[in-house]
Amino acid sequence: MKSIHRKIRHWYTQHGRTDLPWRNTTDPYPIWLSEVMLQQTQVKTVLDRYYFPFLEKFPTIEALGNAPLDAVLKQWEGLGYYTRAKNLHKTAQLLTQEKAADTAPVLPSAIDELIQLPGIGKNTAHAVAAFAFKQPVPVMEANVRRILCRIHAMEQADEKALWEIAYSMVDRQNPFEYNQAMMDIGATRCTPKAPQCAACPFESICQGKSDPERYPQKKRRTVPTREQHIMINLYNNKLALSQRQGRFLHGLWGFDAVEVPLCAAEEIGEVTHAYTHFKLRCKVYLYDETEPAHDHYFTPHQIRQLAISKVDEKILNLYLDSMT
Ligand code: ADE
Repeated sequence: MKSIHRKIRHWYTQHGRTDLPWRNTTDPYPIWLSEVMLQQTQVKTVLDRYYFPFLEKFPTIEALGNAPLDAVLKQWEGLGYYTRAKNLHKTAQLLTQEKAADTAPVLPSAIDELIQLPGIGKNTAHAVAAFAFKQPVPVMEANVRRILCRIHAMEQADEKALWEIAYSMVDRQNPFEYNQAMMDIGATRCTPKAPQCAACPFESICQGKSDPERYPQKKRRTVPTREQHIMINLYNNKLALSQRQGRFLHGLWGFDAVEVPLCAAEEIGEVTHAYTHFKLRCKVYLYDETEPAHDHYFTPHQIRQLAISKVDEKILNLYLDSMT
């Protein structure tokens, strides 16, 4: 592996995305934040719209831990998968509570301890350990999985096998560069379609290069569609919203879903949204109340200041379009 490690280091200095801001800090907090944002969101979105504003608003773990959840959710708005924001906040609160007097809260560096924290799973714990604490461990995400499957010509691979391979391959002297390079090779060379094998530093040892798209085989997943009826209850041109209590989208404000829309309500259209495990189709109804029957009403302008989900934003836009 020594010569491969050398090639990867060289490739990283020549072609890696070395200017990404979370790769140019030694502070574990922004590194952790970036890994959580990047769990389900593309680099470009995180970079263009979320990473810097979040750090500006909550520059330290302590600032995040002392902030109200509403403010954190508002800052996360549009990024989706809000459990990430809630867990990030919860972990910042825990670290802030546990810190010794007159010291700043710190993330632990050991994988075993990182994994205990809300929102830090095996992948994120490895990424934080490798990137923030330079520990000799591999990272694992979709790009890395694809590279490993191709190098070993595996059509299918279970997690255990992938982690064993990843541990056997990691450059223990340079885990930071090696792991960042793995992500970049996956994003720019070992792409799902039409990979550029000739320009890949693994080319000489890759067993899958004659037919790379065969590895790994895609699992065909059909996601179910859920139907919902959404009521926009209006009073005095203000819209009724409530704050969600359930596990899903907890803490965000949203329109009410109902089993059966009121007969007097007018259907104004449909919105759809694709989540990872299901597709949501919402029929949207408008009802003008003669008496206020809800606890909270907001103007569209006020709603823009609240933390709401993408779906509720689409519903609000549908309502505004229906008014013009
Ligand atoms: N995705 C997850 N972690 C990443 C990182 N450190 N750089 C780029 N993309 C990533």
